[in-house]
Amino acid sequence: MPNPNALSQPAVVIETYRDEHQPIFAALNLAWIEKYFAVEPPDRQQLSDPRRHIVAPGGEIFTLFEDGTPKATVAMLKDGARSFELAKMAVAPSAQGRGYGKRLVQRAIEFARERGAQRILIRSNTTLRSAIALYRKLGFAITRLGTDDKFQRADIQLELDLRQPARVVDAAAETTLDPQDWGDFRALAHRMVDDTVDYLASVRQRPTWVAPTAEAREHLQAPAPWQGQGAQQAYEEFLGFVRPYTTGNISPRFWGWVQGSGAPVGVLADFLAAAMNPNAADFDHAPALVELQVVDWFREIMGFPHGSSGLLVSGGSAANLTALTVARNTQIEGMRERGVDNERGRLTVYASQEVHSSLRKAVEVLGLGEASLRLIRTTDDYTIDLEALRRTLAHDRAHGMRPFCIVATAGTVNTGAIDPLAALADVCERERLWLHVDGAFGALGMLAPSLRPELRGLERAHSVIFDFHKWLYAPYEAACVLVRSGEAHRNAFSVTPAYLQQLAAGVANAPLRFSEYGVQLSRGFRALKIWMALKADGLEKYAQLIEQNVAQARHLAARVERTAQLELLAPVPLNVVNFRYRREGASDAQLDEINRRILVQLQESGFAVPSSTVLKGRFSIRCAIVNHRSTRADFDALADEVVRLGERLAAA
Ligand SMILES: Cc1ncc(COP(=O)(O)O)c(C=O)c1O
Repeated sequence: MPNPNALSQPAVVIETYRDEHQPIFAALNLAWIEKYFAVEPPDRQQLSDPRRHIVAPGGEIFTLFEDGTPKATVAMLKDGARSFELAKMAVAPSAQGRGYGKRLVQRAIEFARERGAQRILIRSNTTLRSAIALYRKLGFAITRLGTDDKFQRADIQLELDLRQPARVVDAAAETTLDPQDWGDFRALAHRMVDDTVDYLASVRQRPTWVAPTAEAREHLQAPAPWQGQGAQQAYEEFLGFVRPYTTGNISPRFWGWVQGSGAPVGVLADFLAAAMNPNAADFDHAPALVELQVVDWFREIMGFPHGSSGLLVSGGSAANLTALTVARNTQIEGMRERGVDNERGRLTVYASQEVHSSLRKAVEVLGLGEASLRLIRTTDDYTIDLEALRRTLAHDRAHGMRPFCIVATAGTVNTGAIDPLAALADVCERERLWLHVDGAFGALGMLAPSLRPELRGLERAHSVIFDFHKWLYAPYEAACVLVRSGEAHRNAFSVTPAYLQQLAAGVANAPLRFSEYGVQLSRGFRALKIWMALKADGLEKYAQLIEQNVAQARHLAARVERTAQLELLAPVPLNVVNFRYRREGASDAQLDEINRRILVQLQESGFAVPSSTVLKGRFSIRCAIVNHRSTRADFDALADEVVRLGERLAAA
């Protein structure tokens, strides 16, 4: 039965502006202004031409008619990419107090939401108390008045934040992140794969580094998108503003820091892993078995005994921290219960001055304090000076310190130096110290027959770390920490609350509880990209690539030594080459400046990306070669270009 009350309601419609509404709009506003403003507002002329003055492109005017008679109007003005201004709201004085203003403002809010707005601004006058009360009821908050207030027509500003998600009110409104149309999703996915393959295949044709443009930087500072634009649009933005602007470490001429170049098969593996989306924590599933298998392969490669444990983590820094935690918790009794207690003597860790900064961070994170990292000087080849180490240890023990660990580096970040691992293993045995080897890239030299003798002694370490994303060419992020004593490893981290308890069957019956071996509980399926890469190409191929990078480093070093305008600044035991442009009669300070400029020009022109360091006080152009795409010709081109730039800069 029809509702008699509803029938008695006047027919109210809200219409959007058309040109023939102009007199209506002006009349409503004039009546309203005359009622409220003793002094004519400066924007009176605005009323005559709403299209031009009130509604910038993208805005809108709504008029509410009751039984065909206009009663109220509201105008929205576009005020930026994600913002609207409610620029006019007028209810005919004779029609006030009947809820028309509220209906119109609600319509305006809907309008802004539909267009993905994040806020609505109102600039108003405090004298309009009832209007302000209405805005506040609708959720507007009073905010600061902008200094750019366009028409000086306001003394108050209100703002409505539209970034609240719509509330789910009933089952019919439930939603999901799955695409509405899997066919569309498939088409987009195929396009992404095609584009990505083209992108990888054409890497050599692009400059190495392209700095983000001003437009990209601005775009990437936009506020959070509370309203989605669809995966297609998001992908377009990725293509326009993200993908072109990387350091270029997948390029054949990237040799900066120690950044891996990434194998294409790893790209696919990461995609497959993300689709499976397993939590590689304490469960009975294949991802756990894959990780255990990968760890086991590398346990053997590193010469660690059966019973050693391992864990995949994000990178060398996280791996070093994990290993040092095990060292500290194993070596110092009661550490997990009582914590660090330097009053009984400072706990100390020994490493060469060339040790990576992640070790200092680890020592600090472990609560030991920077002073606990005892840096030992190096010999001319940048390896730890064993005699200085022996003296420092004796001195520290005599002064009540409590040495517990020596960190050896297999491949220092500066020059690729390999500390004498076997001799350090002897020291550790004698002194009852934990030997940790930071082999972030160098330890993977164990795969290469020519390097294995240089790494002799690594197999005697208590722990070792290495990065798959460096010299195993895996996409970021993946590293591994191995600990000789699985028991010590587990004892350092194990916490087993009831909600993580294991059962004899079912999902919670893990082959190994990874959460007991590190700080992470939830973990991604990093192991898949290593597993697939090795299955696809085999260890021999990786061994060959490592050898190839070492040969390229030696080739570049030889080229530098043969070139009068170039100077080698450090020995090249592995894959890192340090050199500079030189010129007869130039001081070190002048050469530093020229070489700094050469480096920046190499990078900014997109020609190549080496990085830099300082060796014995001299600025060095530094190439760390963990790139499977580089060829010898790339290093010849680099040497030529450094000479060319150097001559030009020196002549300027
Ligand atoms: C010797 C060494 N140790 C540790 C690290 C840190 O590794 P990551 O950057 O993966 O955290 C590096 C990085 O270059 C390194 O060269």
